[in-house]
Amino acid sequence: MTEKRARFGSRFGIIMAAAGSAVGLGNIWRFPVETGNNGGAAFILIYLISVVILGIPLMAAEFFVGRHARSNTATAYRTLSKSPFWGNLGFFGVIGATLIMSYYIVVAGWVLKYMVLSAEGLLTTVGKGQETTTVFEGIFNRFSTDPVNPIIYMVLFIIICHISIVMGVQKGIEKFSKIFMPVLFAILIVLTIFSLFAPGAAEGLSFLFHPDFSKLNSKSILCAVGQSFYSLSLCMGCLCTYASYFGKDVNMVKSAISISIIDSFVAIMAGMIIFPAVFSANIDPQAGPSLVFIALPSAFLQAFGEWPIICYMVGVLFYALLVLATLTSAISLHEVPTAYISESWHIKRSYAATIVTVVCIIFGIFCSLSMGIMGEIKLFDKTIFDLFDYTTTTLMLPLSGILITIFIGWKVKRSLFVDELTNHGTIKSSIVTFILFVLRYIAPFALVITFLNGLGLLDF
Ligand code: PFF
Repeated sequence: MTEKRARFGSRFGIIMAAAGSAVGLGNIWRFPVETGNNGGAAFILIYLISVVILGIPLMAAEFFVGRHARSNTATAYRTLSKSPFWGNLGFFGVIGATLIMSYYIVVAGWVLKYMVLSAEGLLTTVGKGQETTTVFEGIFNRFSTDPVNPIIYMVLFIIICHISIVMGVQKGIEKFSKIFMPVLFAILIVLTIFSLFAPGAAEGLSFLFHPDFSKLNSKSILCAVGQSFYSLSLCMGCLCTYASYFGKDVNMVKSAISISIIDSFVAIMAGMIIFPAVFSANIDPQAGPSLVFIALPSAFLQAFGEWPIICYMVGVLFYALLVLATLTSAISLHEVPTAYISESWHIKRSYAATIVTVVCIIFGIFCSLSMGIMGEIKLFDKTIFDLFDYTTTTLMLPLSGILITIFIGWKVKRSLFVDELTNHGTIKSSIVTFILFVLRYIAPFALVITFLNGLGLLDF
């Protein structure tokens, strides 16, 4: 099996695929919302510190497990530990990735719909002088609470992921990422340039880059840590699974650094696109999750309404950007259970992918309906959609992180870890000592606090 295992074909392909996993709704949707809620630049600074101190070491650790075992994430941890407790850590990721995928595709469906809507002229048909936010609110609420339409878009979206997964690691995942990611960067640059000409550009940029530390509190610090983990796609087996397709000569520490830089760069660029428009429209930057679907179209309209063609382009390009970012992340989430099922049950990749697609569609239907007709069904005061989001992002992700850091920092043989990350001593990497230090002493502590905070057990 080891001989036949698929591989990524090039270093560029590896970086694009892994950065594609990281860059997603987390960067373009969640990051600006959290930045808005937590006071702007000071939050970004903490976020970046968390990426460097915690994110990069954890990413390198996941790369280590994946490439060392050269198998799906569940088998990979079992290869490293015979103990049922530590050995099942990878399986935890398989469940987590499936659950994240199930609600992620619901939002992805909305994004796809908004790309279509903007191509049809969403931003140019809403008349001037109308109370635009109310109009966009109506459009979004009607669509997201509809029992059928969002599900159609969700299914369309997962079919695209399914096709790329079935085409294989090199011809599907890698090829798609090598096309989608450069297009995404190009769109990002064009939109940033447009945004710099928006009337609120100066105010928006000052909000993003001028830190006001009085706005920081323990909650926002923990939020920045959680956001960095989510944004880098850590702890849910995605990067471990991708690393199992890395060649022996890949410099994994360098790759982890490059991927983290790309991910943070995209998040900040997304902020540079969103906040100038938000400020020129006098919209509260704390608009919350509806920012991207309600406040933002309204903001774009008010910022660029004088130039209908630019306004049209901004709308289409922005939602196309979101679709591409969402697709590459969803593909990486899909690959985690697909690789596991196909390798552990010894069935064809296409059959395994079909099982995953069907399961995610079933869960996704419930998540989508919980926006409308099933909205009354609540557990712990949360709708089904919120429950999937909360359980995975706030609970499973840090919990898995705590266990992974303890396992690799304390249970795995140090020489094995150092050997793999230095490619058997062929690359000098003094940073590996720092990574191990973080995994042993800093990351578990930071993750325990994040986890307890997520449970609501810390009272700041
Ligand atoms: N990193 C993705 C984003 O920023 O949207 C989301 C994500 C993907 C989280 C994969 C976790 C994961 F395992």
